[in-house]
Amino acid sequence: MNKIVRPENMQRITTPELAKAFIEEQVAAVRAQVGDKKVLLALSGGVDSSVVAALLIKAIGKQLVCVHVNHGLMRKGESEQVIEIFGKELDSNLIYVDATDRFLNLLAGVAEPERKRKIIGNEFIKVFDEEASKLSGISFLAQGTIYPDILESDGVKAHHNVGGLPEDMQFALVEPVALLYKDEVRVVGEALGLPHGMVYRQPFPGPGLGVRCLGAITRDRLHALREADAILREEFDRCGLAESVWQYFIAVPDFKSVGVKDGKRYEGWPAIIRAVNTTDAMSATIEEIPYSVLHTITDRITAEVPGINRVLYDLTPKPIGTIEWE
Ligand code: XMP
Repeated sequence: MNKIVRPENMQRITTPELAKAFIEEQVAAVRAQVGDKKVLLALSGGVDSSVVAALLIKAIGKQLVCVHVNHGLMRKGESEQVIEIFGKELDSNLIYVDATDRFLNLLAGVAEPERKRKIIGNEFIKVFDEEASKLSGISFLAQGTIYPDILESDGVKAHHNVGGLPEDMQFALVEPVALLYKDEVRVVGEALGLPHGMVYRQPFPGPGLGVRCLGAITRDRLHALREADAILREEFDRCGLAESVWQYFIAVPDFKSVGVKDGKRYEGWPAIIRAVNTTDAMSATIEEIPYSVLHTITDRITAEVPGINRVLYDLTPKPIGTIEWE
C-alpha cells in the first residue's frame, strides 16, 4: 500500500459527471504509469477490486490480467457473476481458479476461528502467488486500496485483511482509487457501467462464509449455509430491506436439534439470521424486520434447504455481540 494523503481541497465525487472526470483523469494516469507493460490484479468481486478492474480494463484493456480465486467460501452466485461480467461482458483477461478443494481440505477439522482465518489468508496468498508465477512479463500489481484502508492500516481492522500479498513480490503498485472514500468508489463504479448490485454490495469478510459456517467446516453444512443465505438475500431484495440494511447474512452453528418433517424425526442445524445497521462497524444496532418477512424467510429456508430445521433471529447489538459470529 502506498502512503498517500488526500489533498484537503479534493472535491468529493458525488455525481456521474464528477465520476466521469475522475475516470478520464485516472485512465490517463494509469496509461502514463503503465505504458505497454502488464498489470496483475486479484479480483475478489468485492466493490473495490471490481471498480479497479473496470477502470483498468477501460485504460489498458488486455494488458490487465485479473485473477479470481474461488476459495469455495463465496456466497451463492458470486464467482459466476465475476466470470459473467469481467470474463464475458467486459471481455477481460480473466484467470479463474477454482481452489475450493484446496481450501476445504485444509480447513477440515479446524474449529478455532483465528486458525481458520489464518489458513484461508495464507492459502489465498499461496494460490495467487502460484498463478502469478505462471505468468510472464508482469510489471505492476493493481490493488483496490481505498482511502479508509490507508487511514486504518495501523488500526484495529488491519487483522481483517485477507489476501495481503507476499513480501517478496517485486511489483510496482497501481492503486487508482486510493484517494477515494467508499461512497465515491461506488459512484465511480456505476459510472463505469458495473451492475448496481455489485457496486452497492454489502460488506463481505475476506474469509467469506468460512467465518459463518461456525466451528469446523463441513461441505454439507457449508452448502446449507450458502443456500439459506441466498434465500435471505432474495427475500431482502423482494421487500426492499436490501436497500436499507447495512449487512445481513446467515450463520450456521455446528450443532443439531430435533425437529419433525413429513411426520418423521428430522435432526437439523439452525440457521441464524443477522441483520445489522452501523456506520463504521465498530458498533451496530439490530434491524426491526417485520414478522411477516421473518415468517416467509423461515418457511422458505426450512422447506428448501436440506439440513436446516429451525430459523433464529439474533437480536444482539454490537457491543456486546460482534457482527460476525467468529
Ligand atoms: P465484527 O465481527 O468484528 O465485524 O463486528 C465488523 C465488520 O468486519 C467484517 N469482518 C471481516 N472482514 N475479514 C474481513 O475482511 C475478516 O476476517 C472479518 N471479520 C469481520 C464484518 O463482516 C463486519 O462488516
